Amino acid sequence: MGQAVAIVSGKGGVGKTTIALNLAAALHKFGHDPIVMEGNVTSPTAGLYLGYMPARRTINNVLNDGLSLDEVILTHDSGVRLVTCSLSLAELEQDYSEAFELVSELKKKTDLLLIDAGAGLDEEARFAINASDFVLVVTNPEMPAVIDALRAIRLSRSLDKKVLGVVVNKVNPREKQLSIDEIEEIVEAPVLTVINDDKSVRNAFASNYPVVFSNPTSRAGMQLFELASIIAGHEDEFAQASRSALGWLKRVFGFAFK
Ligand SMILES: Nc1ncnc2c1ncn2[C@@H]1O[C@H](COP(=O)(O)OP(=O)(O)O)[C@@H](O)[C@H]1O
Ligand SMILES: [Mg+2]
Repeated sequence: MGQAVAIVSGKGGVGKTTIALNLAAALHKFGHDPIVMEGNVTSPTAGLYLGYMPARRTINNVLNDGLSLDEVILTHDSGVRLVTCSLSLAELEQDYSEAFELVSELKKKTDLLLIDAGAGLDEEARFAINASDFVLVVTNPEMPAVIDALRAIRLSRSLDKKVLGVVVNKVNPREKQLSIDEIEEIVEAPVLTVINDDKSVRNAFASNYPVVFSNPTSRAGMQLFELASIIAGHEDEFAQASRSALGWLKRVFGFAFK
């Protein structure tokens, strides 16, 4: 059984979905079998980035039509496995919270379930955090995003979730932005990786691929691989830790646990 990691931010547009999909594609290249779950139920985008417009089978079919989870796990060319939800708001209102009740079943089908949370820290994001074992926080090097990251971290800890750390996305060394030290001081958690603002990320999605798949040697692509390798840790540790109660993430991220 795998672990579930919620990818949260508070502020929208910082790169949660980008990180979730690229992490999954990179971990797949490393030999893992991650699944991305669309946790942004009211405004799903993960499927759209990969070209599922709309997805033929979604979590709504599990909740409403009796399909099995296996039948709605979409496998993309990039190796990303994705469970998405219906774009239809009418259907979603009914399924909103029930979708997160499927997390424990999904965890049985993967070594790492990445839950791509919605923006904000309201009920929807709380469902995603509550359904997860760990939280990975994404921010940009700008004060409004960093303050929201702090709020996300405090909320996660108040819900008894371990915060793995923070990813600082869309960094532009030519602009005056908050430094990593400043961000770490504000958010009260370690920064795991920095990812540059890189048009390759958007170009890749324009072709319906995560950048680590279609342009792995781009700046952002290499940085996303670095993040994936931090997440994956060593194979040995992975195998060993998966037998323990808290799983391999605890070993890999022991330093980050508070
Ligand atoms: N490192 C990056 N460089 C350039 N564009 C990026 C980067 N990360 C994300 N983006 C772009 O920013 C926009 C918002 O990203 P997204 O992952 O949808 O954010 P969120 O899920 O947090 O709302 C998208 O157009 C995405 O392609
Ligand atoms: Mg998103």
